Amino acid sequence: MTNQSRNLSQPLLRPVRLGALELPNRVVMAPMTRARAHNADLAPTELQATYYAQRAGAGLIISEGTWVNDEAIGFINVPGIYSDAQTAGWTVVTEAVHAAGGRIVSQLGHVGSVSHPDHFGGRLPAGPSAVNPGEKSFAPSGMKDTVTPRAFTAAEIGDTLAGYRTAAVNARRAGFDGLEIHAQGPQLIGQFLNPRLNKRTDAYGGSPERRAQFLLDVLDAVNGVWDSPRVGVKISPYWTSGAAFTADEETLTDYDQLIKKLGGGGLAYLHLMGPTAVAGTAEERLAPFARYRALYDGPIVANVGFTQDTGNEIIENGVADAVSFGAPFIANPDLVERFAEGHPLAEADRATIYAGHTEGYTDYPAATPAAK
Ligand SMILES: Cc1cc2nc3c(=O)[nH]c(=O)nc-3n(C[C@H](O)[C@H](O)[C@H](O)COP(=O)(O)O)c2cc1C
Repeated sequence: MTNQSRNLSQPLLRPVRLGALELPNRVVMAPMTRARAHNADLAPTELQATYYAQRAGAGLIISEGTWVNDEAIGFINVPGIYSDAQTAGWTVVTEAVHAAGGRIVSQLGHVGSVSHPDHFGGRLPAGPSAVNPGEKSFAPSGMKDTVTPRAFTAAEIGDTLAGYRTAAVNARRAGFDGLEIHAQGPQLIGQFLNPRLNKRTDAYGGSPERRAQFLLDVLDAVNGVWDSPRVGVKISPYWTSGAAFTADEETLTDYDQLIKKLGGGGLAYLHLMGPTAVAGTAEERLAPFARYRALYDGPIVANVGFTQDTGNEIIENGVADAVSFGAPFIANPDLVERFAEGHPLAEADRATIYAGHTEGYTDYPAATPAAK
């Protein structure tokens, strides 16, 4: 296909700036746990370097959620970023992505109470309060129901914040272009934000402002690791995955206040998950994001279930600055090229999403000559 017939003027393929991150296009690769750190160090290897480098055509890659310390773990074979071995492994990844012309930020995560004693030699995981989140954890012996956790002590909150700081420093040492704080759904920060799980009576609970304090302290902890805006936050006001995590008017109002506050915070971007399925008119599709466009004055990356058409639509309408694609990047390493050339998308094999080695990971071919 000639350059003339490639559709490079579509909104998704226009360059954009998110804080200090300069993206050649607006197609962001969403963070995706792929559970292939099969080593005792939980360190990424050449395998992850190959996988991410294959996807370097993305305007920005957000790494899979990676643990800020060993108390953060709640899923098997997921790499961390708290040790030297892990930092060295990530260095191999960032070098490969940069050599392929891409940009990559590290997603820092902690699952809090959505873990299981099997990850900790029988010890209880910790969360904001001793309330079972009613979720599942992928443990070495399979999917396990969560249990009633311990409540974080004040000292443990301090240690966890220090863990975020160390992880951020390690991410910079490893050559990442920035960070994303995983504040989505049922993970630790989402648990602090959740009035059903956070029953604390200290500075971190008791009111929407106090429930938001942990996220604000995490942002403080990582602040200054880069001297330019290179930190984003992924947040999911509409998240619904069980009795504890159900979006309603109270929680949506709390998120409105939080997102308004984040607006003045100098973030590189707000990564906003919308509701899972919004059918109907363009106005109805855009409304969940327009709510936050009116409240937040920085760049917004929209997510969940976008296609090339709906991605172009939300950018053309000025409701988001970029769009992240998760599942489509699994089987389409050259997703941006496929959008440029109007090439159909391949489907991922569900059996190898969270398991396997190269199969279902680095063996999906590029469809387009430019990306081969
Ligand atoms: C296999 C898989 C793993 C995921 N792991 C993470 C993760 O580590 N961190 C995160 O914030 N979201 C994670 N997500 C959610 C995605 O980032 C994204 O929000 C979701 O897939 C919706 O986007 P999509 O409809 O384009 O796939 C994961 C999604 C998938 C499919």
